[in-house]
Amino acid sequence: MSVQYTPVIWNRNKIFYDAVLLIAVALYLYIFIRVGPMFEDVTKPIDGAILRMRAFGSCAFLMLTVILCIGPLARLDRRFLPLLYNRRHFGVMTAGIAAVHANYVLTWYFNFSPTDRYVALLSSNTNYGQLLGFPFEALGIAALIVLFVLAATSHDFWLSFLGAPIWKALHMSIYAAYAFVVLHVALGALQGPADPIFTSVVAASVVLVCGLHFATGRMEARRERGEQTAKASLQEAGWVVAGELEEIDDDCAKVVTLTEDERVAIFKYDGKLSAITNACAHQNGPLGEGKVLWGCITCPWHGYQYNLADGRAPEPFTEKISTYRLKLIGSTVLLDPNPQPPGTYVEPVEIGEAA
Ligand code: HEM
Ligand code: FES
Repeated sequence: MSVQYTPVIWNRNKIFYDAVLLIAVALYLYIFIRVGPMFEDVTKPIDGAILRMRAFGSCAFLMLTVILCIGPLARLDRRFLPLLYNRRHFGVMTAGIAAVHANYVLTWYFNFSPTDRYVALLSSNTNYGQLLGFPFEALGIAALIVLFVLAATSHDFWLSFLGAPIWKALHMSIYAAYAFVVLHVALGALQGPADPIFTSVVAASVVLVCGLHFATGRMEARRERGEQTAKASLQEAGWVVAGELEEIDDDCAKVVTLTEDERVAIFKYDGKLSAITNACAHQNGPLGEGKVLWGCITCPWHGYQYNLADGRAPEPFTEKISTYRLKLIGSTVLLDPNPQPPGTYVEPVEIGEAA
């Protein structure tokens, strides 16, 4: 089976974003491992391997928190959108950092075990029936497996191969990974002296992730209610639902039949929508099948041209056709079925966010 996909091209923004990410991660690890211990007032400092294991574990946890906050933040405020577009590299890096954490665990906690360290990891504690003393490492393993599957399928090839709905459903399991990690940390903390600062950071992260998702959910529900009301009142005023925005390809039209001999062509072009009658003023040629160039439609039959915003042929020609009013509510296109007098300018609808 062959799959067609367009590779995402590296650009300056992506390189800059990755560089900032790498620097931030390196800085966090440096502060945790080198600077943090200088301020600790203890007679017996913790072992270097444990410190590194904690540095990488907490770094992966914080990165996962940021990843989960990016989605709702981008929906609440469009200025966060660049973070959303670059989120995949963030995810892959998180899986890598989490793997380093797990590797420190294996090479430090289980290296001196007489049993193979992988076997020891899974068999040293099998008290799955109790909360206190639960083998929290298993939850870390589950999280790591999910993170790896997501990192491995993050490439655009997999998006094309699996199709957007399956790929998106698969990548929703990032929430399961987050739940596993939170439980991994919480149940792990129950088994030893918990660091109050880190415990508060984990609690704050859970509140932040849940709070942002709740706020976004409420905002979207409110917006949807507003859209429903707007649609209903337009329909009451006689407007008709012409279809969904995604039904119209760029520089193409959707033709809506109003009556047996009245058809309207709704064009999507240059990030805008405009509607004109589908019948050419020359010999009723189907304008909806014509070619869009520079905001003008060329009739497929004999090449007459009309400006899409006002239905007028470019000078020196004088032909005029009817235009129609449109509204875009959410992603639904609504049409006023009353034609404007031929040649009337109608402000094109900006597609903006709904695009
Ligand atoms: C094979 C998978 C994993 C294993 C075996 C594992 C094992 C462990 C162990 C033994 C501890 C307790 C260490 C101690 O404080 O003495 C720990 C703590 C921790 N782990 Fe994992 N882990 C795994 C995966 C993960 C993943 C995927 C994440 C995050 C994305 C993660 C984040 C953490 C954090 C934040 C802590 C607490 C660190 C601290 O107390 O400062 N772990 N892990
Ligand atoms: S019918 Fe359109 S140009 Fe002739």
